Amino acid sequence: MAGKGGTGKTTLTGLILRELVERDEAPILVVDADPNANLGEVLGVKAPATVGGLREEAFVGAREIPTGWDKQSWIEYKMHEALAEAKGYDLLVMGRPEGPGCYCYANNLLREYIKTLAKEYDWVLMDNEGGLEHLSRHTTRDVDVMLVVTDPSVRGMRTVERVNELIDEMGLVVKERYVVVNRVPEGLDVQALLEHTSLEPAMTIPQDPAIFENDLAGRDVFALGDDAVSRKAVRDLVDQFVLGNGQAGKKE
Ligand SMILES: Nc1ncnc2c1ncn2[C@@H]1O[C@H](COP(=O)(O)OP(=O)(O)O)[C@@H](O)[C@H]1O
Ligand SMILES: [Mg+2]
Repeated sequence: MAGKGGTGKTTLTGLILRELVERDEAPILVVDADPNANLGEVLGVKAPATVGGLREEAFVGAREIPTGWDKQSWIEYKMHEALAEAKGYDLLVMGRPEGPGCYCYANNLLREYIKTLAKEYDWVLMDNEGGLEHLSRHTTRDVDVMLVVTDPSVRGMRTVERVNELIDEMGLVVKERYVVVNRVPEGLDVQALLEHTSLEPAMTIPQDPAIFENDLAGRDVFALGDDAVSRKAVRDLVDQFVLGNGQAGKKE
């Protein structure tokens, strides 16, 4: 997931995850790659630690890897503490991208670790920050499906275009990319908006009062009623653009 802040990336990551879990698509790794991490809240799961926090523990202060450990095993040992195991999926929270120190070395190790970790799952869902920084620093550059989320506005569409350019500038390998127009009020025709983007349109997701009520009641995304309008739209989104009728979004 990509797109500017407040457009609904985290909410939609949660809803897509729920859809995959309910369809028994497993194993799934969901990654919160926004430094302002709040995916856990949306999912109702608390990660025991963040990758960024553990990196500091592992590399600052001691800075040395303890004798008897090779680098990769050490990082794997440390990072395992960050993984939250939930019902039907695991959650990994990246946390802060950089502390005061220089982490190039640690970040390279981390990237390798996350690549290796991701191979253990059939699905990796990633909720990113608007700038996509984490995608370059910590994680694989290979993406099957990138969903760029926006609100239904012309300015939102311009941001979509910038994110789209950023994806190329960063040299990410993205097989399919789509724009998702979220929080669409009833009766609004988004066709005119879509003329402002070069990306293929995927789904429009309606503005859903049930999301608001669910949030106010302090409930997670798994508690959202089956009849919620956003759920139906996400179901269609998963069918067409994630599962892709066949296996478009699924790793071999
Ligand atoms: N389709 C929707 N209908 C109603 N509210 C929504 C919808 N999508 C997201 N929201 C609300 O919008 C706010 C921002 O969503 P969030 O997922 O945190 O965005 P982001 O992760 O892009 O910053 C949240 O309060 C969320 O509950
Ligand atoms: Mg978010």
